Amino acid sequence: MKFVAIAHPNIAFIKYWGNRDDKLRLPANGSISMNLGALATRTSVTFDPQLDEDVFILNGIQQTGDSLVRVSRFLDIVRELANSPLFAKIESINDFPTGAGIASSASAFAALAMAASSALGFDLDEGALSRLARRGSGSACRSIPSGYTEWQIGASDLDSYAITLADPDHWALTDCIAVIHSGEKEAGSSEGHRIAATSPIQAARVADAPRRLDDCRQAILTKDFERLAPVIEQDSNLLHAVMMTSNPALHYWRGGTVEVMNAVRTWRKQGIPCAFTIDAGPNVHVICPTADATRLESRLREIPGVESVLVSGVGGGAALLSD
Ligand code: PMV
Repeated sequence: MKFVAIAHPNIAFIKYWGNRDDKLRLPANGSISMNLGALATRTSVTFDPQLDEDVFILNGIQQTGDSLVRVSRFLDIVRELANSPLFAKIESINDFPTGAGIASSASAFAALAMAASSALGFDLDEGALSRLARRGSGSACRSIPSGYTEWQIGASDLDSYAITLADPDHWALTDCIAVIHSGEKEAGSSEGHRIAATSPIQAARVADAPRRLDDCRQAILTKDFERLAPVIEQDSNLLHAVMMTSNPALHYWRGGTVEVMNAVRTWRKQGIPCAFTIDAGPNVHVICPTADATRLESRLREIPGVESVLVSGVGGGAALLSD
C-alpha cells in the first residue's frame, strides 16, 4: 500500500553544525527554526515484495549513487525497527530548488520518516518521528513538529528530538529567500558536520550556544523582533566563521550573498525590521514581520545577483496525506 506524507523545510534561527555522534546525528548544540509553510516536499512510499532493491525517484528522475544510498540507508533503520526485509519505491517531489541551501534534506527526511514508518505499520508519536527523521538529516527532526521548533540537544538518541516552541499563528514572520544560485551546492552538510571541529572557532560557538538559544527562544515567545534580529545574524555569522576556518575550508557565499547582507543592514538602519540568516549555501534568508514582506521582496529583487525571491510564512508540521 502507498503512503504519502508532506513536510516543509525549515530555516534555522540558531544553527546546528557538528555532531557529538555522526552515526546517530546527535548534535554538538541545540537549534531553533521556523517551518516554511509555502515550500513543501511530498513523498510516497510503497514497500513491494517484487522489488529486489529500493527505487528512489526525485522530482521525476530516478536516482542512483549517493542520493539513492542515503535514502536506502535511512530505510534500513525503519526496516530494522519493523523487522521487515521489503524494499520500497519512493517518489518525492520538492516544489522548491533542491540542494541549494533551502534545506531540502530537512523536508525530505521528515516526509520520508512519516511515510515509511506508516507504510511499515507504525503509528509513531511526534517525538519518536522527530528522532527517526533526525537519523536521515539532523535538521529534519525540526520539520516534524509544527511552527517554531526547538531541537533539544538531548543526552542520547532517546531524548534528542524537536518540539514546538510556538504554533504557526503565534507570530506572523515571513522568510524572503533571496536565491543567489539555485544549482546544487559544492559541499554537503554531512561533510561539513564531520569537519566542524577542525575549526578553532567551533568550540567557542558551541560553548555560547545556550545563551543564543535562550535569547532566541525568549524573542520568539515574546514576539520581540528587535531582540530576534541581532541573535540570528550573530548565529549565522558564527556558523560561517566556523565553515570558513575548518579544514578543508567551506566558502558558500557569492558576491550576491554579501550584497544582500549589506542591504539588510542598511534597511534596518533605515527603520525596516529585517534580519539575514544563511545556511550551507549562497542564498540569503531575510526574516521580517509579515507586514514588511512585500516591500522587502521587491527591494530584494532589485539587487544585482539575486536570481529570484521565494516568500514563505510559518508552516505546520509533517502530515500524512493518505494511505
Ligand atoms: O540537517 P543537515 O545535516 O542538512 O544540516 C543542516 C545545517 C544547517 O542548515 C546549516 C543549519 C541548520 O540547523 O539547519
